[in-house]
Amino acid sequence: MKLNAYAKINLTLDILGSRPDGFHELSSVMVPVTLCDNITLEKSEELVFDCNIKELCSEDNLCVRAAKLFFATAETEVYASIYLEKNVPFPAGLGGGSADAACVLDGLNRLFGEPIEREKLFLLAAELGSDVPFCLLGAPALCEGRGELLTEIKGMPTFDAVIAIGKARLKTPEMFRAYDSAGLPPRSDSKRLLAAAEANDRSALIASLGNAFEPITDVLAPETKLIRAEMLKSGALASHLSGSGPSVYGIFESGEIAKECAEALKKMGYFAVYCQTVGR
Ligand code: C5P
Repeated sequence: MKLNAYAKINLTLDILGSRPDGFHELSSVMVPVTLCDNITLEKSEELVFDCNIKELCSEDNLCVRAAKLFFATAETEVYASIYLEKNVPFPAGLGGGSADAACVLDGLNRLFGEPIEREKLFLLAAELGSDVPFCLLGAPALCEGRGELLTEIKGMPTFDAVIAIGKARLKTPEMFRAYDSAGLPPRSDSKRLLAAAEANDRSALIASLGNAFEPITDVLAPETKLIRAEMLKSGALASHLSGSGPSVYGIFESGEIAKECAEALKKMGYFAVYCQTVGR
């Protein structure tokens, strides 16, 4: 079974406060993008995992953790071999690892005749990570709570996009700690975006995009600010950080402008890729 594990971008990311469990209360509109990892699953006598990037071949990989959780829950007698072809940059704020985990959970469930109900699969996904339930849904959604409480957004417009990333590597827990120390005023981009989507107002929707981590990454990873400026210079309608960074996305009026922007960023030495956001 060959599957695509689609990355995501955060069109908005509002941080509403910290929680007693150590996580943060979020309100984020996330959309899948066509940039994806490729996963091959086959039934096998034992659980085997391999990847085109050797540093990712470990028991800690979310693919292995998702498979172990699936087999512990489904109690099958046969296991599976998993091959991951990693194309999505990591760690980047693009949910690549979460997408892989969701894809393995969903794929194994289908390969073994759906022993686990959909609702239970979402609970398993939430155990694996805050973004895994969204990746399992695979459609634009408002993500609240830790990120696992999903409200699907129907009729979300799709965009030509570019995703780019420089050399900085940021760790999500450290980014949340830096955010807490900065004492920034709260944002409510998600509410504005939902109102704009409801009213079918494309320019208000574009104006509402944003990410609460940007004032932090502007300082800790100034490359992200440079890439955003470069995208806007190349004709992006908007350009923002995805997740806790350091990846940046731009959305564009046309695929042609987006592809030209991706080429220009590549020439500047960045990883850059043209893709599209996915609707439903
Ligand atoms: O759930 P996930 O493994 O993606 O989270 C990684 C880390 O990011 C958490 O351990 C936590 O430090 C931080 N986080 C948070 N609040 C969230 C999601 C993640 O503080 N809603």
